[in-house]
Amino acid sequence: MDRDDLTFDEYDELINPRAEETDFDVIVETALSRRGFLGGVLSFGLGSFLVGTTALTHQANAADRFGFAQVAANTDDTITLPEGFEWQPVVQWGDPLWSDVPDFDDATRGTAASQARAFGDNNDGMSIFTKAGRTVMAINNEYTNRSILWGNRPDNKAADSDDIEKGMMAHGVSVFEVARDDAGHWQVVKDSDLNRRITPRTEMDLTGPAAGHDLLKTDADATGTKTLGTWNNCGNGETPWGTYLTCEENFNGYFSAADETHEVSGELKRYGVSSKDWGYGWAEVDDRFDVAKNPNEPNRAGYIVEIDPFDPTSIPKKRTALGRFKHENAAVVIAPNGKAVVYLGDDERGEFLYKFISHGVYSATGDNTDLLENGDLFVAKFHDDLRGQWLALTPDATGMSDAEIRIHTRQAASSVGATTMDRPEWVAVNPTKTEAYVALTNNKNRGKKPNAGGDETSANGPNPRDGNKYGQILRWIPDNEDHASTEFEWNLFALAGNPDVHSDAYAGSPNINAGNMFNSPDGMAFDDTGLLWIQTDGKYSNEGDFAGMGNNQMLCGDTTTGEIRRFLVGPKECEVTGVCWSPDRRTMFVGIQHPGEKGDSHFPAGGTSVPRSGVFAIRRTDGGLIG
Ligand code: FEO
Ligand code: CA
Ligand code: CA
Repeated sequence: MDRDDLTFDEYDELINPRAEETDFDVIVETALSRRGFLGGVLSFGLGSFLVGTTALTHQANAADRFGFAQVAANTDDTITLPEGFEWQPVVQWGDPLWSDVPDFDDATRGTAASQARAFGDNNDGMSIFTKAGRTVMAINNEYTNRSILWGNRPDNKAADSDDIEKGMMAHGVSVFEVARDDAGHWQVVKDSDLNRRITPRTEMDLTGPAAGHDLLKTDADATGTKTLGTWNNCGNGETPWGTYLTCEENFNGYFSAADETHEVSGELKRYGVSSKDWGYGWAEVDDRFDVAKNPNEPNRAGYIVEIDPFDPTSIPKKRTALGRFKHENAAVVIAPNGKAVVYLGDDERGEFLYKFISHGVYSATGDNTDLLENGDLFVAKFHDDLRGQWLALTPDATGMSDAEIRIHTRQAASSVGATTMDRPEWVAVNPTKTEAYVALTNNKNRGKKPNAGGDETSANGPNPRDGNKYGQILRWIPDNEDHASTEFEWNLFALAGNPDVHSDAYAGSPNINAGNMFNSPDGMAFDDTGLLWIQTDGKYSNEGDFAGMGNNQMLCGDTTTGEIRRFLVGPKECEVTGVCWSPDRRTMFVGIQHPGEKGDSHFPAGGTSVPRSGVFAIRRTDGGLIG
């Protein structure tokens, strides 16, 4: 099958089916049986999981605090907003961050050298920071689509090593100063001394419990503490002490072996590492990515990376304390006892939801540099009685060392019998209430094939539908109004679905209707007022099960009433991902990723232009607050 016909996830599963049991899993399973672990305990009706939305009908609620009228689903090749709102581009793939770099050229689509000093591709999570009157944006550049990056080459394939290097340089993080122009529009400040490109070749430190472990040592780094770069940076986080967190997600897809028959270890297989190339070709230009030659290199990726956005000379730190998996985002909140709590999702079918609690305490005036260096890691277990607990991943509980727990975190979580989830994407913490939400984007394998994580394949409380193609949003309320609590209540805020096509559970929860329906919730963030903004990365066929949903979109949820209203529709074949606000809350920045990934978009420039991912500023035409 042609790689171009498949999504990232589909290709990952195709070349590396995860159902097989590895030696390591067998060991874990044996350990599990020894402790007499029992799975789900009680079975409730689906309706009992839907607390908080039961008062709603399939009709939209008239009273609201959204301040905008719902946008209809559509398949237009543009950004559609409610009346009274407007958008402008801020930055797009290939835009120079320095004035000595040529502007993006549709014909060549840049070179490795230009790309290394320009905004990367496929922007995802982003944050905005202010200090001493200056404003900086830090934005992930997650990956590249061959059809776009090399769309000017025969068969969308790299023509030479510079093409491969260009793809590599399109990954990582872009950090740059922004300022308003005379018209009040936010623009990149070219040549600012704060501008920085972080790429897969940027020097980084490995810190925390796994630093220096033998599994992190390579020929190039005998200490296991120094590594190069970050890639496939998906969602993000930001800390109260002003640092940016970038989250390494599908890091596995960049490793391959010149010898495709090379068998990778069971531990690496659990993370999807394979000897087959996904199409990036990095092992062709850098032996570091040849897993036969450097079997420990993949252990040095899959972490949360902390970056100081105001010091371009600072060395980013990979925080192994927060575990190694396919990190989606990092939602940080300070608990009443002052400890930093970070919620973390592992985006793969049948993987888990995690929580980190720092050992140290946050100080508003002190030094928090190493707060994420050490802490306790937990994984979520959901019970069908709407209660749940955070299971500690300790050496006693897992039979693994503290360092191994941070490197083989998935295996550690399986060993304690955590609940396998329908692909945890972003977690969002409500700033106005002690509660948190996670987008569980979809899981076609639920109830159909074994889960990677190792528990039953059947539907469970927070993941209640077999063959889940629409996704759901799960909410939990920590006991004692304390995010550091080890127990919580949970319920489902929304089950996405299509009430026009289905009349069973696939119609969705009562707050889903023909007007606001969507599939595959992914990006999610609260604004300061407590409204929940929901972005989608789903099927945009607008046919069959997805008829009436249109392009990927952004919606807004009122978590008190349960109402959900569509705010934005993205251009063709895009994913809407990444959101942040200007300090005065009069501009909302939204990311549009890979418009035209299948060749049917010329967004944003139109005509016959190359479609380009980018960040777009949204304002009210009356200049009012947005979110
Ligand atoms: Fe990069 Fe799970 O999305
Ligand atoms: Ca995502
Ligand atoms: Ca997704």
